[in-house]
Amino acid sequence: MKALVTGGLGFIGSNFVRYYLDEHRDAQIINLDALKYGSDPENVKSMQGDERYSFVKGDITDYDLVSRLVRDVDTVVNFAAETHVDRSISDPTSFLESNVMGVFTMLEALRKSNPDVRLVQISTDEVYGDTLKGSFTESDPLKPSSPYSASKAASDVFVLAYARTYGLNAMITRCTNNYGPSQFPEKLIPKTILRTLMHLKIPVYGTGKNVRDWIYVRDHCKAIEMVMDSGDPGEIYNISSGDEMTNLEVVGKILGCMDKDETEIEFVEDRPGHDLRYSLNSSKIRAELGWRPEHDFKEGIEETVKWYLENEDWWRPLADDRVLHPTPWKLEW
Ligand SMILES: NC(=O)c1ccc[n+]([C@@H]2O[C@H](COP(=O)([O-])OP(=O)(O)OC[C@H]3O[C@@H](n4cnc5c(N)ncnc54)[C@H](O)[C@@H]3O)[C@@H](O)[C@H]2O)c1
Repeated sequence: MKALVTGGLGFIGSNFVRYYLDEHRDAQIINLDALKYGSDPENVKSMQGDERYSFVKGDITDYDLVSRLVRDVDTVVNFAAETHVDRSISDPTSFLESNVMGVFTMLEALRKSNPDVRLVQISTDEVYGDTLKGSFTESDPLKPSSPYSASKAASDVFVLAYARTYGLNAMITRCTNNYGPSQFPEKLIPKTILRTLMHLKIPVYGTGKNVRDWIYVRDHCKAIEMVMDSGDPGEIYNISSGDEMTNLEVVGKILGCMDKDETEIEFVEDRPGHDLRYSLNSSKIRAELGWRPEHDFKEGIEETVKWYLENEDWWRPLADDRVLHPTPWKLEW
């Protein structure tokens, strides 16, 4: 198997590159990444010198580059995206460029240069919007709330249209919130860990009652591997662990893990349009591909806290006042 992985210097992409090459001795991966702010070459340091791995600095909106790269692979896994909801609220333009034009460019490159390639488009539960009751299945309508989720929904429908109209061998995965090693410090879980280590108050939006379903990143990687191997073209696969918690519960568990308590929390002004609850039904990937999560939240969060404690050299240069800001959606990025 020879794969083009895009966005492989970011959080999930780099975990996937390491996971996949660990599991498959004969695999080869080309990592295409534009080295935007969420990326870090340190994330794949362990791959340096490994003949099965190569890196190309470039943008998925570069048609000529992507066309050349896809000619020589049998699989593409697209992680490349702008990903932070708060940044999409203060400046949505880059989200349209990477998440919509980037995916469109890749689809055109595949259609014209190598239509047999298997494409796995990494999407998100946020495309369904929020729900107070029940869980979304793959056939539910899309109702994105933020510029980020709107851009991901737009790319999803392009992927489905190319699978149907041009017969592209493309699949979509929609996963819930990930956590684990090397997540950029601006996201809820690393931000809570790092602000605790820096003896700063932990900002919680609104009432803290927003519910998310958290999955350990390695369980997500395993699900993607299964979709690459056995997913059907034109199909969507929801991925979720079922570990639903309010933001307040998540922060409380991290504080507990770090010998602190809820007195460290400070409630701050809520993010505009903040979705109340995300919930996915992942019975399709469980029944059809046999996937199931292997890490519960307690085990995963302990491993994650330990990783940040042991990797201060990685996070310290990234964790500035803007990145750890209590209400980043108010900033001009
Ligand atoms: N983090 C989550 O909880 C989560 C949950 C569900 C789905 N996802 C999806 O998973 C994917 C990866 O998310 P992440 O959290 O690892 O993001 P991240 O921000 O950590 O990494 C994104 C990577 O993509 C690269 N990139 C961005 N635009 C690019 C472009 N135009 N060309 C080439 N490279 C580009 C960046 O340099 C970075 O290395 C995204 O598509 C995201 O929508 C994330």
